[in-house]
Amino acid sequence: MSATMATIIDGKAAAAKIREEARLRAGLLSGAGVRPCLAVIIAGEDPASLSYVAAKEKALAEAGMESLDIRLPADVGESRLLETIAGLNADEKVHGILVQLPLPSHVGEDRVITAIDPAKDVDGFHPVSVGNMVLGRPGFLPCTPNGILALLGGLPVSLSGAHAVVVGRSNIVGKPLANLLVRRESNATVTICHTGTVDLASHTLRADILIAAAGKAGLIKADMVRPGAIVIDVGVNRVADPSAAKGYRLCGDVDFPEVAKKAGHLTPVPGGVGPMTIAMLLRNVVQAAERQAAFRS
Ligand code: GUN
Repeated sequence: MSATMATIIDGKAAAAKIREEARLRAGLLSGAGVRPCLAVIIAGEDPASLSYVAAKEKALAEAGMESLDIRLPADVGESRLLETIAGLNADEKVHGILVQLPLPSHVGEDRVITAIDPAKDVDGFHPVSVGNMVLGRPGFLPCTPNGILALLGGLPVSLSGAHAVVVGRSNIVGKPLANLLVRRESNATVTICHTGTVDLASHTLRADILIAAAGKAGLIKADMVRPGAIVIDVGVNRVADPSAAKGYRLCGDVDFPEVAKKAGHLTPVPGGVGPMTIAMLLRNVVQAAERQAAFRS
């Protein structure tokens, strides 16, 4: 087998360009008296969710945008969440609404997401946004799948005719990503694998582009990857590590050291898909503010 190593895809660098573009657009809006603002709702104290929200709010501030941080207790009632969203829908100063998932299990996630005004649905999770995406109509695209498309678009390969295998069928990543890859603009042939798939490796081995979004640390081993394949690791798993300062380390769904010897291109964790998710969120918030400003003027 060849000893060449995969090219590591630099998500931080790709994200920096998109963030800078968002910052410039936000500056234009602010100059016109409209400061883009994202309301971020988080219920409970899930450590991973808290750290994601902190990263999103920091990025917004760095791009000259406002965030409205709404922290609710883990035992918050669904009706309080729905009232909060109704207030934010009606607030002209708020251009985007993000409800950090997962919500506490007693809350109907679907009802909460559906309560968001689609014009402010910068996560792209509302059924109207999902429907628009599937139909190829304008609307907000979900940040992680959109970030992955942007990463793939930056590689010197064509998606058209490529076989993309998506491992994972979540509403946040797997399902929307498969939909975006199959659109005429991408033109990939798509296989979706999930926990019900028999002989996962027989599918992943046929992938020109392999996207691991299962939420299982180290699921994708080198012997499941075709030599030269593009491998995108969406997993963000906390694996106990007593030698690490925080007591854990972040680990993707891909066995990075081994797969790096086989893949053609590979995203690291952290520093691959994660930064792109945040960059696409900034882009969506600016876009929401631009549309709302135009609509009101
Ligand atoms: N939880 C994990 N990923 C996401 C995301 O992209 N948006 C929200 N709102 N919650 C998440």
